Amino acid sequence: MRAAFRLAAVAAAIAASASVHAQGQPPLKVGLMLPYTGTYAALGNMIENGFRLYVQEQGGKLAGREIQYFKVDDESDPSKATDNVNKLIKRDNVDVLVGTVHSGVALAMAKAAKDNNTLLIIPNAGADAITGPLCAPNIFRSSFSNWQPGYAMGIVAGQRGHKRAMTITWNYAAGAETVKGFAEGFAKSGGTVVKDLNLPFPNVEFQALLTEIAAQKPDAVYAFFAGGGAVKFVKDYDAAGLRKTIPLYGPGFLTDGTLEAQGASAQGLLTTLHYADNLDTPRNNAFRKSFALTYKANADVYAVQGYDAAQLLSAGLTAVKGDTSQRQQMLYAMGKTVINSPRGKFAMSAAHNPVQDIYLREAKGVNNEYREVAVKQLADPAKGCKM
Ligand code: PHB
Repeated sequence: MRAAFRLAAVAAAIAASASVHAQGQPPLKVGLMLPYTGTYAALGNMIENGFRLYVQEQGGKLAGREIQYFKVDDESDPSKATDNVNKLIKRDNVDVLVGTVHSGVALAMAKAAKDNNTLLIIPNAGADAITGPLCAPNIFRSSFSNWQPGYAMGIVAGQRGHKRAMTITWNYAAGAETVKGFAEGFAKSGGTVVKDLNLPFPNVEFQALLTEIAAQKPDAVYAFFAGGGAVKFVKDYDAAGLRKTIPLYGPGFLTDGTLEAQGASAQGLLTTLHYADNLDTPRNNAFRKSFALTYKANADVYAVQGYDAAQLLSAGLTAVKGDTSQRQQMLYAMGKTVINSPRGKFAMSAAHNPVQDIYLREAKGVNNEYREVAVKQLADPAKGCKM
């Protein structure tokens, strides 16, 4: 009896000290650097909503720590990126940076994160170099590399019997890298890219380029645009009468979060991505329901990536019971965790990029519906990453 009492008293004391420990810590400062204006504004908002949803589901705390948010609108403008990220690092003194959408802005964030040894979680931007030559122990991605969906679409386009493709995109890192991935996959399955077209980001004057596609008559077109630009491109491609004659493909960003605005012009489009809206798993169904109840809107891939950025942070914090001064252990846990994502479970590569199934999806109504796994457990080659 006495021994049992003593045990209970010891257990109670341990529980109390653990909770004092967590309560004794100040809120964890999370710096959200995302586009809240411009062509990627909707993407930034979805990422923030996804991140906040996961935190809300944990009762507003991660590993016992309250979360305090700091926000900067990066405007998807690389020329302002260093100043913007320094507002969060130097002025607000954040514990972790979460951002961003645009690869050019993310490259500047990665440099600042390295220079200041600030933890950075990237919830979208696919810049290959960040999990390649610029990889670092304190930089993680909860999304994809630009190469991943591009490569998978190239494989699929070849399998569908296309031989000559043209590509069209914005002229910056994301566009160039997704096109490179596509060309590699397409070559591997028997095709050739005959011409690459591009225009400056975030321009949407597509007419001259569509005229050139019509004149060249390739078997297929691969396009990377996203957000507001993707809405306009898909509509213009259809309005130019090209859809019936030259199949349009892309990484899933071409139709993600955009289907309502694209209407009939996007119906039936096939794209590749690490997420599909109607994945019929308990995890995805619960996530979509929770998101819809909280925000009165349908989740998309960007919401998933924001949600998973919070899960990744949570995995690191949990391993050190919220004590971020145990830096090594925290980063190690983040690298080793398996994220139970709405997209399906995924692990991190050695370069800190998700190793994940890439799905072939078809646009139906307001959903990008799952068709099949295009490439299973695809890992970015992470060329040049030494950690
Ligand atoms: C990028 O710049 O890396 C980027 C932007 C928007 C997307 C995907 C990638 O939807």
